[in-house]
Amino acid sequence: MADAGTRQPIGVIGAGYVGLVTAAGFAELGSEVWCVDIDAERIARLRAGEVPIHEPGLAELLARNRARLHFSTDVTGALEHASLLFVAVGTPSTYSGDADLSAVHAVVAAIPPASDRALVMKSTVPCGTGAALQRSFREQGKEALGYVSCPEFLREGSAVEDFLHPDRVVVGADYGWAGDAVVDLYAPLGAPIVRTDVASAEMVKLASNAFLATKISFINEIANVCEETGADVVEVARGMGLDERIGPKFLHAGIGYGGSCFPKDVNALKQLAGNSGYHFQLLTAVIEVNELQKRRVIAKLHKHLGELPGKRVALFGLAFKPHTDDMREASSLVLAARLNADGARVTAYDPVAEGQARQLVSGISFAPSALEAADGADAVVLVTEWPEFLELDWREVTQAMAGSLVVDGRNALDPAAVQAAGLVYEGIGRAPRATPDERIRGEASEAAR
Ligand code: UDX
Ligand code: UDX
Repeated sequence: MADAGTRQPIGVIGAGYVGLVTAAGFAELGSEVWCVDIDAERIARLRAGEVPIHEPGLAELLARNRARLHFSTDVTGALEHASLLFVAVGTPSTYSGDADLSAVHAVVAAIPPASDRALVMKSTVPCGTGAALQRSFREQGKEALGYVSCPEFLREGSAVEDFLHPDRVVVGADYGWAGDAVVDLYAPLGAPIVRTDVASAEMVKLASNAFLATKISFINEIANVCEETGADVVEVARGMGLDERIGPKFLHAGIGYGGSCFPKDVNALKQLAGNSGYHFQLLTAVIEVNELQKRRVIAKLHKHLGELPGKRVALFGLAFKPHTDDMREASSLVLAARLNADGARVTAYDPVAEGQARQLVSGISFAPSALEAADGADAVVLVTEWPEFLELDWREVTQAMAGSLVVDGRNALDPAAVQAAGLVYEGIGRAPRATPDERIRGEASEAAR
């Protein structure tokens, strides 16, 4: 990429999924980057060349740009060398659904005022946060501190790709030099720039995530209707998605959306509307549909296995989606807890998320492989569509299992391959299809009639 030193140096505060990818991405674009995090163990690992999160391509990006990356728990280096300080600290939900901005405020408090310095907000914050922060700058005599809202749209599991090839870059600034400086930083990526005001930039992020979550809850409800009407939601989504006004993306029905962003941001937007006296009905339904969707697997297991006490259920996958070790708001958490409460014996396997899962889930066992998880199981539930589950030889799974039920929670498997292995396939919004034999038998008896 660009040669060293030609790009302006930056600071990144918060070395989590978003902060680390942002730091590595800008180093790749040629900037010197001072990356700060309060977690001393995380910084020590980064200094040792380790990568504390599972994110495809990130280790290579960090290694390739090692000379341009400086990791510290102390913000001094970033203050000394950089004018633009990207803020990517956590903004988790509070019990009320509001975003917890305490980490953001802690960062602001640590930044002394200077006319050539600006905060660039990457963390997802409620609309109005930028205005409130700029007011607090003035009250603290920090009016010289610039402020830019530059929301992140990267997806976990493809974050490096998303950083280097964004659909758009949103830059919200109400006045001053900082907005232009951020636009300049992103220029090498050649992506469309949405140059706007701070409040609108903040709302672009929340509304985008809320819309994607709405699209998922919509197709999940369509899937539930398909089950009652004999249609196949995969076919329905294919037909819908060819309409460019709809588009094929985020029309994959399943057992609900999870992760660090959609649940939090949908709640935050609903709460934000409520705080402004507006009842956001649509999002209320999106959240409710998603919670119910996580539990539909239980009804499918009951339908085939009857009462669940003592039944052995294998969970294939735990992470909220493939290619990440992130368990935040994963559907598997609800599923495992429900199955436990119903007295089922749960054994789970996930290629990378077991470590995080052990901290969040109790009362289940973990297996070192899919086949070992399926050993003696009455049912297998595909929870996360990791590629290795799509490449499984289902005859081997049949051998391992005691029962024959496969619930495909992500409609990611080939029903015919599962059925050909002598297993019963149950998807989401895919009414069980007649097996080839059943079809032939059906046609034969039709003909005989
Ligand atoms: C974060 C925000 O949580 C999310 O709202 C936003 O959309 C993107 O940035 P993520 O990168 O996934 O998401 O958060 P996380 O992986 O939790 O990383 C946050 C990092 O900030 C952690 O490493 C934490 O140690 C660090 N942090 C937190 C600080 O350095 N200082 C603080 O005061 C608080
Ligand atoms: C999301 C946004 O996509 C990203 O732009 C933003 O910056 C952060 O939040 P991420 O949470 O990493 O990214 O995951 P994403 O790929 O969006 O998936 C979110 C959840 O929706 C996952 O649980 C996934 O399994 C589910 N999903 C996604 C569906 O159920 N169906 C779909 O069609 C797509």
